[in-house]
Amino acid sequence: MLLVFLLLLLLHPPLVSNQMTDAEHQGIVELHNRLRRSVLPEAANMNQLIASATLRNLAQQAADTCRFEHNYGGDYSGLGENLYMGGSNASLAVMLWFIERENYRLSASGALCGLEYGNGRYPQYASSCGHYYQVVQASVREVGCGKKACSGSSLIVCEYNSGSGSPPYTAGPSCSGCSSARPRCLDGLCVPVGTSGSTCSLACQSCTKLVGNATGSCDCSGSYVPCTKCDSDATQCLNNGTDVGASLTNCSCVCPADFYGDRCQ
Ligand SMILES: *[C@@H]1O[C@H](CO)[C@@H](O)[C@H](O)[C@H]1NC(C)=O
Ligand SMILES: *[C@@H]1O[C@H](CO)[C@@H](O)[C@H](O)[C@H]1NC(C)=O
Ligand SMILES: *[C@@H]1O[C@H](CO)[C@@H](O)[C@H](O)[C@H]1NC(C)=O
Ligand SMILES: *[C@@H]1O[C@H](CO)[C@@H](O)[C@H](O)[C@H]1NC(C)=O
Repeated sequence: MLLVFLLLLLLHPPLVSNQMTDAEHQGIVELHNRLRRSVLPEAANMNQLIASATLRNLAQQAADTCRFEHNYGGDYSGLGENLYMGGSNASLAVMLWFIERENYRLSASGALCGLEYGNGRYPQYASSCGHYYQVVQASVREVGCGKKACSGSSLIVCEYNSGSGSPPYTAGPSCSGCSSARPRCLDGLCVPVGTSGSTCSLACQSCTKLVGNATGSCDCSGSYVPCTKCDSDATQCLNNGTDVGASLTNCSCVCPADFYGDRCQ
């Protein structure tokens, strides 16, 4: 009986040991965000990454092949992908991708990426900036990673909802350049409206000063027009006046008949 049990164990080694646990996966997502927060120069428009079950599945499928090759087409069309073949520590893999930043730092435009390859600084890892670009690509929103023990080493794969470009982000004070789809700020990363703990990321455009982080409201006394643009539904137009629109730089109200002024008062 015992022998049979041992044989079964040998034939079917526990899958879990080959794959990433949920906790490990969450750690990898958080590590990405920690690194995205730490870029130099500071990023104005860096999105927070969230875990995607779909991308995690695709990453695991890619890892299961044990092929250290990029995946294109089909479900992988339009995605970004980072691969690592080596030890089983996925955090280390992400750190090694990020370390290519040392190349990037030489030139804000990234034009010098790869030049250090021959200098022996990180000869085994720093042949390009591509992995670094992918880890800190500002517009990426979702990530999912997988891992597989292949003969002698582990294949670690992360899929991102979009690929990378150069430069990977816009430099500037953190959250000063968030997109209107993710106008709020959490620990230096751009997040959507409704994210718990987030603050207003947008400077008041036409108003005198920001009143508070919690609501992102502006002090629009005097002749200034209202511009609480953080929460898309928070308009300060009165009397059924409507906000001029999605534009973050125009805080005017469109007033119905008989109402005038900045706020249709
Ligand atoms: C995995 O790698 C990270 C980053 O280098 C390191 O901090 C951590 O201690 C490693 N974990 C284990 C279990 O070796
Ligand atoms: C908004 O948050 C920033 C950073 O947390 C802080 O320095 C600033 O004082 C806050 N401003 C207001 C008006 O609460
Ligand atoms: C605003 O519109 C609503 C619904 O159309 C109407 O009931 C209300 O009287 C309007 N308010 C003003 C101040 O015109
Ligand atoms: C804002 O939009 C309104 C309505 O479209 C327009 O009349 C006004 O000139 C715009 N203001 C600025 C500063 O662009």
